[in-house]
Amino acid sequence: MKRRIAIALGAVLLAWAAVPALAGGKWPKGDAAAAKPLIAEQCIKCHAVPGFPTDRIQPAVKAPPFAVIAADEAKYSDAVLRAFLRQPHYPMKGFAMSKRDIANILAFLHSLRK
Ligand code: HEC
Repeated sequence: MKRRIAIALGAVLLAWAAVPALAGGKWPKGDAAAAKPLIAEQCIKCHAVPGFPTDRIQPAVKAPPFAVIAADEAKYSDAVLRAFLRQPHYPMKGFAMSKRDIANILAFLHSLRK
C-alpha cells in the first residue's frame, strides 16, 4: 500500500517536472520597450505595427498586423507564439530570434491588448 502511494507520488512529481520542459524550458521575463529596436529593424518590413511607421517593403506578403495578432488571444496564445517565433518564418530568411527577443516581442504584443 505504501509502495503504491510512493509510485503515485513519483508519477505526479515526474509530470510536474515534465510540464515546463514541454513548454520549452524557462522563459525570460519580457520587456516591451526592449522589443522596439528589433520590431523597427525586422518586423515592420512586412507587418503593420501600431506606433511604428508603415515600412512594409513587402506589402505583397500577407503578414497579419500586430494589432490583429494581439487581439486574438485564442488563436495567438503565448505558447503558440513562442513555438512559432522559435523558427524564422517565411519569407524571412536567415533571421532567428533568441528566447529573450521572443519574450520581449510577447511583452510588446501584451502591451497592445490594453
Ligand atoms: C519578410 C516578411 C516578414 C517579416 C520581416 C516578419 N514577418 Fe511575421 N509573418 C510574415 C508572414 C507572411 C506571416 C504569415 C505567415 C503565415 O500565415 O504562415 C507572418 C506571421 C507572423 C505571426 C503570426 C503567426 C501565425 O501563426 O499566423 C507572428 C506572430 C509574426 N509573424 C511575428 C513577427 C515578428 C515578431 C517579426 C519581427 C521580429 C516578424 N513577424 C517579421 C512575414 C514577415
